[in-house]
Amino acid sequence: MNDLSRAELLDHGLAEAMDKLVIVKSPIYTSGECDPREPPPRQDTAGRLHLMGHDPRLPKMPAKPNLFDFFNYRFGPAAHMLQSARLALKNGCNEKVILACLVHDCSAAGFIRADHGYWAAQLIAPYVDEEVAFAVRYHQVLRFYPDEAFGYKYPDSYVRLFGPNYRPEPYLDRAHEYCRNHKWYETARLLTVNDLYSFDPNLQVELEEFTDIVGRNFRQPEEGLGFDDSPSAHMWRTINWPTRYL
Ligand SMILES: [Fe+2]
Ligand SMILES: [Fe+2]
Repeated sequence: MNDLSRAELLDHGLAEAMDKLVIVKSPIYTSGECDPREPPPRQDTAGRLHLMGHDPRLPKMPAKPNLFDFFNYRFGPAAHMLQSARLALKNGCNEKVILACLVHDCSAAGFIRADHGYWAAQLIAPYVDEEVAFAVRYHQVLRFYPDEAFGYKYPDSYVRLFGPNYRPEPYLDRAHEYCRNHKWYETARLLTVNDLYSFDPNLQVELEEFTDIVGRNFRQPEEGLGFDDSPSAHMWRTINWPTRYL
């Protein structure tokens, strides 16, 4: 069978599966693109069932997914996080900083961009040392504030992305102040120091390089992420099955 006909068959199978399902987009997927005060567009639901599990358009995850499965199936190209973790390793950082680097942008990569440090910290909190979740939460904040003692300057990329007149919101000023006076400030700051502004397209870093560090510092639940009843299990489930009707 040549590649084209296999692709056609796959498409055909997918098309058939899609014909039997109603897949509704959550408001957050279209937020900003349509007026939230208007009713959502009507869909043809005759003879179809609303999706309540795996979305056939997505690669299927194992029944008991672990952190690396989320990297492989849901977090998109993760070169930035992997290269940041590799840099932290090279710079002699401790394992908490390396793990924090490895997962720091997982929300932006697979869930939600806005306030991504806060979302990511909540996702990982039940499974890591409190200090790791703290660093991930505050890296988003600290990125806006230079600290010469650590050789950290305001990123040039932020000037390009947000313009020279961008000023962080007051909630970020407050969070920065809080973090700066916290006993774990250095951990969060080291994450920003190793958080690469631009990644090297030629540097290949494999997840497996971090198997041992993850094994020692990320409490992988036996039931799989999303199925262990932790305070963030529902968030992992939503990333796994993002389009369930309920
Ligand atoms: Fe980030
Ligand atoms: Fe980052």
